[in-house]
Amino acid sequence: MKKVIIAPSILSADFSNLAHGVKMLEEIGADWVHIDVMDGHFVPNITIGSEVVKALRGTTKLFFDVHLMITNPEKYWRDFKKAGADLIVFHQEVLADKKKLAKDIKDSGIKVGISIKPKTSVEEIESLLPYLDLVLVMTVEPGFGGQSFMEDMIPKIKRLRKIIDEKKYNCLIEIDGGINAATGELCVGAGADALVSGSYIFSAIDPADAIKSLSI
Ligand code: DX5
Ligand code: ZN
Repeated sequence: MKKVIIAPSILSADFSNLAHGVKMLEEIGADWVHIDVMDGHFVPNITIGSEVVKALRGTTKLFFDVHLMITNPEKYWRDFKKAGADLIVFHQEVLADKKKLAKDIKDSGIKVGISIKPKTSVEEIESLLPYLDLVLVMTVEPGFGGQSFMEDMIPKIKRLRKIIDEKKYNCLIEIDGGINAATGELCVGAGADALVSGSYIFSAIDPADAIKSLSI
């Protein structure tokens, strides 16, 4: 059985002590840290900037998966790279030249991904797949943690898996929004390689058990 990458979202961590949250993730075996960057424009919420990422970078060696829910990723991605991002994910729905942006990020020496909101189809990113390390499929409308998983996104995950396998692209599928043991299993069954999970892990009585329940 393939190993699923678990990427807890620190959006649900205690913001008054993020370093503690990240340390805990390290101790309980998280693979990546998912960092949700929101600009109050692309989504109706404002969260973390590159200075916070930089501060956290000094506290852990965990892989930083930075999810940019911002209108102008072409303007800000370098700040997040400098801050220590290992993977930068921007959204298909922004106006920027996505192919150029993906290439620029990749050429800078880090990994790159594109995220698709629930209403965006796989076909819209199909031509970009050869340039991507990852596609992030949103299973909630981006903006807030703690929302319910949209089960009608499962066929989309299956379709993406089929294309990536058929064309032998070197591209991971990551799922974000409403992931718990049950919905995580559905996603892995549909072909997901990585699972983001925020409220399920951080509100669990035992976050280590929560991570384990996502890995099997
Ligand atoms: C939502 C964010 C998610 C969010 C997931 O816009 O992209 O990463 O933190 O939180 P849960 O797991 O609580 O749905
Ligand atoms: Zn996210």
